[in-house]
Amino acid sequence: MKFSTKAIHIGQAPDKETGAVIPPIYMTSTYAQESPNNHKGYDYTRAGNPNFTNLEATLAALEQGKVATVFSSGIGATTAIVSSLSKNDKVVIANDLYGGTYRLFSRVFSQFGIDFTTVDTQDLAAVEAKLKTNPKLLFLESPTNPLLRISDIEAITTMAKKYNVLTVVDNTFATPYFQNPLNLGADFVMHSTTKYIGGHSDVIGGVVVTNHETWKEKLDFARMAIGLNPSPFDNWLTTKGVKTMGIRMERHFANATKIAAYFNNHPKVKKVYYPGLPSHPNHDIAQKQMSGYSGIVSVEFDLSLEDSMKLVSSFTLFTLAESLGGVESLVDHPASMTHASIPKEERERNGLSDGLIRFSVGIEDAEDLIADLDEVLKGY
Ligand SMILES: Cc1ncc(COP(=O)(O)O)c(C=O)c1O
Repeated sequence: MKFSTKAIHIGQAPDKETGAVIPPIYMTSTYAQESPNNHKGYDYTRAGNPNFTNLEATLAALEQGKVATVFSSGIGATTAIVSSLSKNDKVVIANDLYGGTYRLFSRVFSQFGIDFTTVDTQDLAAVEAKLKTNPKLLFLESPTNPLLRISDIEAITTMAKKYNVLTVVDNTFATPYFQNPLNLGADFVMHSTTKYIGGHSDVIGGVVVTNHETWKEKLDFARMAIGLNPSPFDNWLTTKGVKTMGIRMERHFANATKIAAYFNNHPKVKKVYYPGLPSHPNHDIAQKQMSGYSGIVSVEFDLSLEDSMKLVSSFTLFTLAESLGGVESLVDHPASMTHASIPKEERERNGLSDGLIRFSVGIEDAEDLIADLDEVLKGY
């Protein structure tokens, strides 16, 4: 079965009792039991809900993994994985992660004795040096947010296996439509389903997918014990969103390709970051491990912090907002918004300048989007 057929049918059988083509929303916190602990598989929604089970089947199939657990957010998904570690365990994280993931390690897990260090995951020698320090987990994103850096997932997971280190790949930007890290050797794939999987900017959610079936119990335990469960309604919305993911991703990709080309030829642009451009430094690795380059384009303008903040506030169709991956186009200024939680020196060391602007290209008509960009850029 191919992607869109799975997205529409796996975990989505019509309701057995009523024949409803769309499975209902099980908006319940608890479940009737015939006698103590004698129930139909669910006892309390913090621990499980039929809507969770349905979406987990869909997302495991899309990531080509065996099991999945859905969470209240992408951050919740990461929390569940890390909560399986113990005090003084070491974690290596990529130096270009989403700011909120970095904050989770630097300001929360570090308080509980999880010892983390950062590494440039494009530098395989540096990764190997870190793997030799006996970490439990290596956590990376590819492409990264917002610089669209690409790491060689297969080379890294092969090395990590040699040192017995579990690997987590945040696949939020690539989506399972364009990249399947489990097939490249990763132990876990996580997503902020808030983004392309939900696809409509109306829900917050997360998922972890793995081939380690024994981990299903650990991830479900973390959800139940820490309270990382989504709402059944949010989960149902994600299920609705995921059905159109294949056609949405084709359009995001087509539009982003046109917009990257537009920026690439624009005199006011210093640098365009898009893995689909042959000029992207890791285009060859992207070609090897991705079947398309998704819908995010980041652009560096030669502008001060003030002018960048003015520019991002001037578009008509690109709404200034955090987040990405919805049908509508959004624009973000990482230095003052999504990545403000990373200290300025650390940001700049990693190439995240004040003039960097991230575009989440939606599925509107590309001509209208380019006209909006052109109109605003004329003023600079
Ligand atoms: C790449 C990436 N990973 C994880 C997250 C966190 O996900 P959530 O906001 O659903 O908790 C985000 C959010 O922006 C993200 O962009």
